[in-house]
Amino acid sequence: MKDEQITIYIDNQPIEAQKGDNLLQVARDNKIPVPGLCYHKKLSPTGACRLCVVKIEGQRGVVMACTVTIDEPMRVTVFDEELESARKQTLNYLLAEHDDTTDNTYEDELAFWAEKYDLSDPERRSYPSILSAVGAKKDDTSPVLTYDAGKCIKCFRCIKACDEVQGKNVLSFASRGITSYIVAGLDMWSESECDGCGECVQLCPTGALVERPHRQELRLDKIEKKVRTTCPYCGVGCQLELWIQDGKIVRSNGVEGVSPNDGRLCVKGRFGLDFVSSPHRLTTPLIKKNGIFVEASWDEALDLIATKFSAIKQQHGGDALAGYSSAKCTNEDNYMFQKFIRMAFGTNNIDYCTRLCHASTVTAMLRSIGDGAGSNSIEDFATTDCLFVTGNNIIETHPVTATYVKNGKYNGNSIIVCDPKWTPLVKYADIWLQPRLGTDVALLNGMMHVIINEGLVHQRFIRERVDRGMETFEELKILVEKDTPAYTEEITAVPKDKIIAAARMYASAPTAMLATGMGLSQQVTGTNNVFSLINMMLITGQIGKERAGIDPPRGQNNVQGATDVGCSPIIFPGYIPVDDDDNRKRVAAIWNVPVESLSAKAGLTTVEIINAAYDEKIKGMYIMGENPMLTDPDLNHTEKALKKLDFLVVQDIFHTDTTPYADVILPASSFAEKEGTFVNSDRRVLRVRKALEMPGEAREDWHIVQEIGRRMHVDLGNFTHASDIFDEMAKTAPIFGGINYQRIEYKGIQWPCPTAEHPGTRTLFVEKFNTPNGKAKLNPVAYVAQAEKPTKEYPFILNSGRILYRYHTATMSRRNKSLTAFAN
Ligand code: SF4
Ligand code: SF4
Ligand code: FES
Repeated sequence: MKDEQITIYIDNQPIEAQKGDNLLQVARDNKIPVPGLCYHKKLSPTGACRLCVVKIEGQRGVVMACTVTIDEPMRVTVFDEELESARKQTLNYLLAEHDDTTDNTYEDELAFWAEKYDLSDPERRSYPSILSAVGAKKDDTSPVLTYDAGKCIKCFRCIKACDEVQGKNVLSFASRGITSYIVAGLDMWSESECDGCGECVQLCPTGALVERPHRQELRLDKIEKKVRTTCPYCGVGCQLELWIQDGKIVRSNGVEGVSPNDGRLCVKGRFGLDFVSSPHRLTTPLIKKNGIFVEASWDEALDLIATKFSAIKQQHGGDALAGYSSAKCTNEDNYMFQKFIRMAFGTNNIDYCTRLCHASTVTAMLRSIGDGAGSNSIEDFATTDCLFVTGNNIIETHPVTATYVKNGKYNGNSIIVCDPKWTPLVKYADIWLQPRLGTDVALLNGMMHVIINEGLVHQRFIRERVDRGMETFEELKILVEKDTPAYTEEITAVPKDKIIAAARMYASAPTAMLATGMGLSQQVTGTNNVFSLINMMLITGQIGKERAGIDPPRGQNNVQGATDVGCSPIIFPGYIPVDDDDNRKRVAAIWNVPVESLSAKAGLTTVEIINAAYDEKIKGMYIMGENPMLTDPDLNHTEKALKKLDFLVVQDIFHTDTTPYADVILPASSFAEKEGTFVNSDRRVLRVRKALEMPGEAREDWHIVQEIGRRMHVDLGNFTHASDIFDEMAKTAPIFGGINYQRIEYKGIQWPCPTAEHPGTRTLFVEKFNTPNGKAKLNPVAYVAQAEKPTKEYPFILNSGRILYRYHTATMSRRNKSLTAFAN
């Protein structure tokens, strides 16, 4: 039994351990400094460096502590003369073939132990160096790292980091004996499948593998501070430790031991942050005068904005104004922005990029299970028995979540990939379903036909947890009756045997999760696709328990948070509909405004806002950190609409494709220059911390919003720090009710967390769904042939997708040499 407590003795000191614990780890956790270089608690033990030798009473000889699993009481000797002498001898061997020179750019555990054992000075060592005879292979072909065999102690940590943590299997040893060295792929790093995640670098103990970017300038003794924060790229929300030197980020490490990444990063989080100190950052407000942008003071810019917006409101009403908030900004920025739109403009015309990616998924999830957020935790991707990934290129879009998926695969869990095009995850899939574009509903209905026919339906779950229970199930059953595997194959082109196998695999797994994505939602039938998926989940009872449910990983870093805090035309902070009178009264009291001043009318979505601008009904817009001139589906239409606006403000950190259409451009702060929070894909509220000063006159987004509000005679709150905004947000949005900055100082909390005592919610829907009666709803949908069919005139279907090295509109990722080197 893993949890059984055992008392062991280490150098006569009694220590409590649990059965199954690693002896070396237990010793170190109890502050016993057992030497060792090849062990890392994230990796399986190797026993390669032989520094952790110990004696265990009753066992012959010495053993490596890192290879011992505690399963019975034991008496261990860590330090005695014989063991210390053996360690010193081992270090002597390692140092004889080691290059001691250092450029002070990496932390060197071997040098640390050499000093402890008085071997720093070569004169004090037992053996002369044989380094020149061995020869030190070097590889500096990777854009992001260098390898130097002269510093390599062959500890296996990099190989295991690549295999066991990141699941990539790129590294191995070449050659034999003391001339062996680490090789990526068949030979050179640049020719290998290495995608630059840098896990190997982070876990290398000796400086054999070192980051390449900033190596020329980085010096350990010049590092001013190390700041923990949250990655600004995707919705995984990886925890970073930024190393700051000379006012710049010179290194980014993953933070070990905390969710969601436990030290893991992808190439963007580790090597993609140079955009912050790009010389192209916006540094001063710009006002367009006679068609040319000229620098302006903040007062001039803010006064102009307030005057113009106020005039439009007075002349055309608040509904003639609209705002786009940003999935890249913090919750605090977004909260202030929606408050501004609702209080200063007096409208609910607020939306952002989520409308064009996740809205159909969220719509289906809200109607079926009452919540659009992911059910599970990111770590659950490693432990669910079966993962069904559909329309989601997870390895490139959410690389660290994908590492957990691969961990699960290596642990024997099953993966079904459903995608018309090949994605890297196909290599790991047990079954790859490759339906014709637009036939998802047909495929899912076909799978449900098999599930029903083979008696794999979870009847108790349907009776207890689904609205109208078996009655609604019967309707679904009738609907899919005709969808036999053969019929489904005809429509989808997926062989019927695969349809049957996938249906069995998903339905009969003890636990199964669905990872859906843009491929499913960005279709005319997007909402129906997700309804079908949820139907399959509900009739098999693959939700409402740990490691089961539906998870649409969020694209950008704070897509989840921006909606959570109310950047939506139909909901207030905390997902409460704008027409809920009681909530409006409650919010009006918190915001200290008359309830009548808060509109109960649903606002316009992004698509509707652009259409209304085109129709000259929207006259003024405020865009914070969005780039519709690249993200909108019909750019000609968007361009015409933006040109028709009387007044446009764009607030960003760079010039974008949208800024040329602005009347005023405001320079904002990047993630590294402000305090705040993001919410990641598993609803985890994570801290963002200020590591750097803003360039030039740039300001924090929420602060700019607050200032415009003040000039429009609207009091958005006398906030001086982001934490004050969070505290108000926690009052306004009950899902954050129990969270504050103190509670998330060390690790994030997953909402809902309604009270100060609540630990947060790891898995949604375990007891009930978020619908009015607590039950889920089946929404049977029939297959309808795709509207976007090839024609003679347009014979191709173009399908968009992501690559690992680029992000969103590439505003940030394009400004990094390392990412560009990989992308090209
Ligand atoms: S490169 Fe580093 S991590 Fe890899 S075997 Fe050599 S010393 Fe160990
Ligand atoms: S997986 Fe996402 S959050 Fe993590 S480092 Fe990469 S881009 Fe950043
Ligand atoms: S740490 Fe145990 S053998 Fe290396």
